[in-house]
Amino acid sequence: MDKIIVRGNGPLRGETHASGAKNAALPILAASLLAEGEHSFRNVPQLADVGTMLAVLRTMGCEAERHQGRQKHLCRVRVPHQVVPEAPYALVKTMRASVLVLGPLLARHGRARVSLPGGCAIGARPIDQHLKGLRALGAEIDLSGGYVEARAKRLRGAVVAFDLITVTGTENVMMAAVLARGRTVLENAAREPEVEELAGVLNKMGARISGAGSGEITIDGVDCLRPVDHAIIPDRIEAGTLLVAAAITGGEVLVKNVVPEHLEAVLQKLREAGCRIRAEAGGIRLSGPQTVRPVSVKTAEHPGFPTDMQAQLMSLTSVADGTSIISESIFENRFMHVAELRRMGADISVEGATAVVRGVDRLSGAPVMATDLRASASLILAGLRAEGRTAVSRVYHLDRGYERLERKLRALGADIRRVRE
Ligand code: EPZ
Repeated sequence: MDKIIVRGNGPLRGETHASGAKNAALPILAASLLAEGEHSFRNVPQLADVGTMLAVLRTMGCEAERHQGRQKHLCRVRVPHQVVPEAPYALVKTMRASVLVLGPLLARHGRARVSLPGGCAIGARPIDQHLKGLRALGAEIDLSGGYVEARAKRLRGAVVAFDLITVTGTENVMMAAVLARGRTVLENAAREPEVEELAGVLNKMGARISGAGSGEITIDGVDCLRPVDHAIIPDRIEAGTLLVAAAITGGEVLVKNVVPEHLEAVLQKLREAGCRIRAEAGGIRLSGPQTVRPVSVKTAEHPGFPTDMQAQLMSLTSVADGTSIISESIFENRFMHVAELRRMGADISVEGATAVVRGVDRLSGAPVMATDLRASASLILAGLRAEGRTAVSRVYHLDRGYERLERKLRALGADIRRVRE
């Protein structure tokens, strides 16, 4: 297993860019199952999770390859007329987003056998809303042996009112509805930019979806879809992480390939923390403050402050000049970075879903352990600020969602490198 070694090395300066969005690429790759033929996807991030989704597609009989070298962000997926509509436990357990093949398989092949995703470090993460939506569209669903067994002759349109807002639940049911007979309305739908992006790709394939990005999405079923060529939108969470790297080191960085309106809530909090932020050259330029001001936040569904930026903001506030209150309302166990940040000298106490972060003058480098994707990023951010050497172990978590983050940070002046353990 690799480790990331980072030493506080002063302000970061220069230009970098966000890669393609992981949480857009995963549902879009699953959507390729809806149309026979050759799909091509550009700006696909080189991530472990993307590799897992391509492996899932291959086990179904698709040809799926990532190009290397200069075209390394190009993916081609050839979907046959008939696929093996199964997603095995061995793959689903490594990436819960594999469950996104359920909707497409049911819609186009009339059946699916997909392993129930286990929980993960940040929470139980059930899929009851996914199944509720698919049943509403007429699917027969049984759970047996840890698998979802689903069947449907032809799905039919329905009104699906989600009991809670779920990103992949919205995406799964939207993908099932595009080939259903008649109209489907998703109420209490997720509004994330990645949901809107998926709807855009489905419409390019011939679907008829309106309202994506709002809480109510309407899908009029069609008889068939065609393969697509598409470039994935930039990753707003990676962009936010790079901006926090500039903020926590008091540097000045231009992050290109960013859609500012996808990050409005994050930019607002960074301004409150004392950062100067402006749009520039298709990206965002951030100048970090000499003294970080405390900020308080409660994570929420989009357009609220994203839970995927909670750990990164906590690292920033751990060196603020005052006390910040950070509440996590989406996942039940997303504070595992707290214990590791404490090892670096942070003063954080957790009461249920709320963390009280009392800013300290300095952090000290220490050996720490990544526990989940965004926690690993937050530990690297703290290491950029800390005095001395921080060694982050289990960085396979990081590689699930960041394309060689250490290279991007090194190019900005960070003293950071990856070592094989
Ligand atoms: C997506 O996960 C993202 N993953 C997550 O990003 C992100 O943190 C999350 O949305 C919230 O924004 C992808 O898009 C691949 P949810 P998802 O369904 O869809 C509960 C990252 O770091 N729930 O919106 O799995 C659930 O337990 C990852 O990139 C049910 O109870 O999240 C959670 O508490 C981490 N029943 C809440 O809803 C359901 O059927 C929101 O979950 C579905 C969800």
